[in-house]
Amino acid sequence: MTHGSATTHRTDAGPGRAPGTAPESASPAAADADGGVPQRRLLRTEIPGPRSRALAERRAAVVAAGVASTLPVYVERAGGGVIVDVDGNSFIDLGSGIAVTSVGNAAPAVTRAVQEQVARFTHTCFMVTPYEEYVAVCEALARLTPGDHAKRSVLVNSGAEAVENAVKIARRATGRDAVVVLDHAYHGRTNLTMAMTAKAMPYKTGFGPFAGEVYRVPASYPLREPVPLTGEEAARRATTVIEKQVGADQVACVVVEPVQGEGGFIVPAPGFLPALERWCREHGVLLVADEIQTGFARTGAMFACDHEGVVPDLVTTAKGIAGGLPLAAVTGRAELMDAVHGGGLGGTYGGNPAACAAALAAIDLYEREDLAAAARRIEALVVPRLRALAERAPQIAEVRGRGAMLAVEITRPGGLEPDPAETARIARACAAEGVLVLTCGTYGNVLRLLPPLVIGEDLLLEGLEVLERAILAAG
Ligand SMILES: Cc1ncc(COP(=O)(O)O)c(C=O)c1O
Repeated sequence: MTHGSATTHRTDAGPGRAPGTAPESASPAAADADGGVPQRRLLRTEIPGPRSRALAERRAAVVAAGVASTLPVYVERAGGGVIVDVDGNSFIDLGSGIAVTSVGNAAPAVTRAVQEQVARFTHTCFMVTPYEEYVAVCEALARLTPGDHAKRSVLVNSGAEAVENAVKIARRATGRDAVVVLDHAYHGRTNLTMAMTAKAMPYKTGFGPFAGEVYRVPASYPLREPVPLTGEEAARRATTVIEKQVGADQVACVVVEPVQGEGGFIVPAPGFLPALERWCREHGVLLVADEIQTGFARTGAMFACDHEGVVPDLVTTAKGIAGGLPLAAVTGRAELMDAVHGGGLGGTYGGNPAACAAALAAIDLYEREDLAAAARRIEALVVPRLRALAERAPQIAEVRGRGAMLAVEITRPGGLEPDPAETARIARACAAEGVLVLTCGTYGNVLRLLPPLVIGEDLLLEGLEVLERAILAAG
C-alpha cells in the first residue's frame, strides 16, 4: 500500500459527540466517549507500517493461516471512532469491529464497569453459583426486545452459540425438527450455523458434512429480483417453498436476519417480515429474529424488527450488547424458553460477570444517550451524500441500509454484474488513506459502513470524503 496523505485535523464536533448532537446537550458519558484517544485521522508511515509488518512475520509463524484480517495493522489502542496502530497511525473506524463497539471503542463507562466487576470477582460460573449481573442483563433484554409479553433469556458467549441455542429451544418447544433459513443468510461458523449460513467460500467450503434438517428458501433482495416483488409476494414465494418442500407442520422455526448482514446489508421489501410473522403464527412455527448484527440501536431502532412492529418468538443478540466484551443471548417468550428442562441450557462462561457488567454499562448508554437517534442521524448524513455520489459513479448499483448499517453495492457499470475486485480496490484505497471500511455480500461486492454510533460528525464526514474519493478514483 502507498503512503497516504497525512492529516492532523481534530474533529470540531468534539470527541465522541454523535452527529447532530449539540455540545451543550452532550452528557458526561458522551463527553469522554473517546477514552482519551484523539479523534483524528493521522498517517505516520506506509500502511501497514514497519512494526505491524514485524508482527505479521511473528504471526505467520504461529497463527493459523485460516484466520484472516481485513486490515493487517496491529492495534495499540482505540477509543471512540479511532483505532491507533503500533506505528502511530490513527484510522477512522467505519467498522466497529463488525458492529460491536457501537458505544465507542473502550467507552469509559464500559471499561469502568468491567474494572469494578473484575476487582470483585472474575468468574464463578452462573450454573454453579449465580450473581445479580446476569439477572440484570436478562431484565434489560426482557424490557428492550420487541413485544411486551413475559420473556426469559439465556446468556452465552458468541452469536453462533446464541443461534445454536435458539434452534435447540425451538425444537424442544415445538417438538419439530426442521429449521428454515433464507438465501444470503449468515448465522455463524459452528457446524449447525454453517449449515444455516448461505455462502460457501470462505465459511463452508471443505468443512462439511453439515447438520441436517436445515432448509433454505428465497429471501427478499429488492435490487436483484428479476421482477419487482412486494414484501408480501416475496414472503409468499418463501412460504410456498416451505409448504411444498418441507411441510409447514415439520418446521420448528424460521430464522431471519431483519436486515441481512454478511449477505450484503440487504433490506427486505416492506411487508416481507410481517408476512413471514403472520405465516409462522398460522402454522405454529416459531419466528426467530437473528438481531446479532442489527440489534442494539444499530439500525436506528433498538431492534430492527421494531421498524415494522414485528414481534418474534425468539431473538438472538450479541455484538453491540456489551461494548466489545464477548456476550450473546437468546431471549424469548417465557413459555417457549421454559419448555427446556433444567440443565438443558448453559455453558462454563455464558454470562461471564465481566461481560455482563459491560453489557449493563453499554445498555445504559444506548438508552440514556438515545443512540438509536444517533444512528438515524448518521443515516440522514451519509445516505444523501452517497446517493448524490452514485450519480457520478457508475459502479454504484445501490446505496441502502438502515440507521448506521449502510451499504454501497458495487457492480460493473450499466448492469448488475457484481464487481468484487472493484469493491476490494475501494476498501484498500480507504485503508491506505486511514479509513477502515469493511466489505460483505454473497458476491463480495458490497462496501459496508458500521461506524460507532458515538462517532463525531466531522470525523464521519472526513471518513466519507475519503470513501468518495476512493470510489471516484475508479481505474
Ligand atoms: C446475523 C449474525 N448472526 C450470527 C453471527 C455470528 O456471531 P459470532 O461471530 O459472534 O459467532 C453474526 C456475526 O457476524 C451475524 O452477523
